[in-house]
Amino acid sequence: MKKLLKTTLSVLAGLAISFNVLAAAAVTLDSANTDIRDQKSLQNGAKLFMNYCSGCHSIAFMRYNRIGKDLNISDADVEKNLMFSGDKIGETITSSMSKTGAEKWFGTTPPDLSLVSRSKGVDWIYTYLHGFYKDESRPFGVNNKILVNASMPDVLWELKQNKSAEDFDQDVRDITNFLDYVGEPAKLVRVDLGYKVLAFLFVLFILSYLLKKEYWKDVKYGKWRAKD
Ligand code: HEC
Repeated sequence: MKKLLKTTLSVLAGLAISFNVLAAAAVTLDSANTDIRDQKSLQNGAKLFMNYCSGCHSIAFMRYNRIGKDLNISDADVEKNLMFSGDKIGETITSSMSKTGAEKWFGTTPPDLSLVSRSKGVDWIYTYLHGFYKDESRPFGVNNKILVNASMPDVLWELKQNKSAEDFDQDVRDITNFLDYVGEPAKLVRVDLGYKVLAFLFVLFILSYLLKKEYWKDVKYGKWRAKD
């Protein structure tokens, strides 16, 4: 019995230590506060993404015309505002950057971002885009708080300089929101449907409750009540 107690205690102590180590290594992420139902935010995010990110990053699981359809942007506007590389509107969104060039310039190929919101989560992306700081020892003069020694330059620095802090936050949130949508386009339908189902269940609950009251009225006070 004593032995069992000892082993249990040492296992618990070991767990406590490893949790501590993990907690120390983790950085706290800022909350992205994105809202997938905010179409304006998604439209702005799409525009910013195509302007500031698509030169390096592909989102190869997504097509231009699907964005148009899902976000209510006409084909003409998609072609005017979201397409720069001479692609056709039905094509997937690949990056024009060559692989060997990218490796030469950045040391690594910029990853495809189709599923980054699924693998890293929106809070991570939001914090990452906010997380660049000056570091002269790095090739682009910047480092990143949560992706240490990231080989991506701080591509939004100009936007940050020309905007108020709130507007810049909103832009970063919109890009993050857009990547969330790209990671799971069905979320647009799923979340919307979820609210409707909940509303329906709420109404059903009230009706069921009233019905139950009606039935039990007879059982409690009516002719069905057992004589005592
Ligand atoms: C000049 C090229 C370039 C541009 C423009 C660029 N990136 Fe990157 N990005 C990179 C490179 C290179 C990496 C790989 C960094 C590493 O692993 O060190 C990267 C990494 C990332 C990652 C991390 C992916 C992962 O799974 O680790 C995210 C998220 C990201 N970029 C988002 C963006 C967004 C959003 C934009 C537009 C605002 C953008 N990037 C613009 C080059 C670029």
